[in-house]
Amino acid sequence: VLPTQTQVVPVDLGPRSYSATIGRGVLGPALRGTLIACATPRADPTDRVTPLGPVRRCLIVLDTGVPATLLDAAIDALHTQGISPHAHPLTPTEHDKSLASLASVLESAARAGLERNDLILALGGGIVGDLAGFAAASYRRGIRFIQCPTTLLSMVDASVGGKTGVNLLVPDASGHAALLKNMVGAFWQPAAVIADTAALDALPDRHLRAGLAECVKHALIARSIPGPTPSSDPLVGLRSTIARVLARDPAAAAELVAHNVALKARVVAGDERELAPSKAGGRALLNLGHTFAHAIETLPGLSPDPSRPDLAPLHHGEAVGLGLVAAAAAAACLGMLPAALAAEVTELVAACGLPTRVRGLAPTAEVAARMAHDKKASGGVLRLVLPDASDGSGLGRARVVEGPPPHAVAAGIDAIRL
Ligand SMILES: NC(=O)c1ccc[n+]([C@@H]2O[C@H](COP(=O)([O-])OP(=O)(O)OC[C@H]3O[C@@H](n4cnc5c(N)ncnc54)[C@H](O)[C@@H]3O)[C@@H](O)[C@H]2O)c1
Repeated sequence: VLPTQTQVVPVDLGPRSYSATIGRGVLGPALRGTLIACATPRADPTDRVTPLGPVRRCLIVLDTGVPATLLDAAIDALHTQGISPHAHPLTPTEHDKSLASLASVLESAARAGLERNDLILALGGGIVGDLAGFAAASYRRGIRFIQCPTTLLSMVDASVGGKTGVNLLVPDASGHAALLKNMVGAFWQPAAVIADTAALDALPDRHLRAGLAECVKHALIARSIPGPTPSSDPLVGLRSTIARVLARDPAAAAELVAHNVALKARVVAGDERELAPSKAGGRALLNLGHTFAHAIETLPGLSPDPSRPDLAPLHHGEAVGLGLVAAAAAAACLGMLPAALAAEVTELVAACGLPTRVRGLAPTAEVAARMAHDKKASGGVLRLVLPDASDGSGLGRARVVEGPPPHAVAAGIDAIRL
């Protein structure tokens, strides 16, 4: 029985459909429910949870930051279904979201004797989710996995949509090893997403703020997503929600997660593999701010607080916040966004308690070159997603710009330089 305030958001992907269950205390009951569903043959051929029959073994890829109560809830749920889980603990950093970590998870799965019917469960933030998902996609050519996100960022974004993968460390032209984000991976949808918002109680403020960056991103694309037009302006109310979440209001956090999962589910349902042409936008819209973000988030020495170099490097969400500011500045430079709306984007990012400028950024040409490396470039042409208010209707729309002029890219980078 799920707690009364639980929200269930469907992710409609035909035979790969699943749902996201969101609320305080949902981990145990929702996991039990999913395992029972896995074991119960059903008539519905589109039901992806069931076709392989009951799970007998489970590997939990465990983020060591997760409170013990959540791990206990997961283990209890597995025990009630006769499953003795094995744990693969991991302290997540972008450097450990690597092929070496992938190999180590796969070896744990093999040691635990996981077979094709079995399960990998990701219990943690986005790094653990991306890594565990890719392990599930490749182990025995693909086994089921369940996403149990425990950070705000992984609840509102990373756990939904089936993008999994790891970073690559590749020497650049000058021989320095450069960390290239998410260069290797697979589209592999989970069998369920279970977001127990009680996990957020223990999440440090810095990570709470980082998660809000993806919520601002979603609001900035909301009106470009096909489907019913939002009944209200996606940005109205966002500031007060941000304030309530930062003040640790649990109901506001649960609402925010459900709203953002529903939005992401709509985008993913329309373009699961990001194949839509640039004109249509599609899943690529979710990359708003990310080409800038990926170019700077793995640079060593960048701190979210100029007076605290010890806080370097940036976290993903912090880089995304800066990326949104840069994208708005680039859009303003191209006449797609009035300067006042670009300033509003910066204010929204600041309202999340996130940095809008960063000290120690590499020279503009170097950052631009790193952006060109990002896998979001296609056919050698950089693809930027930029906010677009050229129809005069305010914030909330974005579009893909192929081959943006270098001066607009530079304007974006310079806007976040302190
Ligand atoms: N697959 C996707 O679609 C997608 C989308 C967005 C981001 N991402 C990826 O997600 C990653 C970032 O995820 P993240 O922001 O969750 O960071 P993260 O995975 O590094 O987790 C942040 C920190 O929180 C700790 N933690 C986790 N749960 C906790 C809890 N309940 N209480 C206390 N501490 C806890 C972790 O140990 C870690 O130190 C990036 O690698 C990014 O590329 C993927």
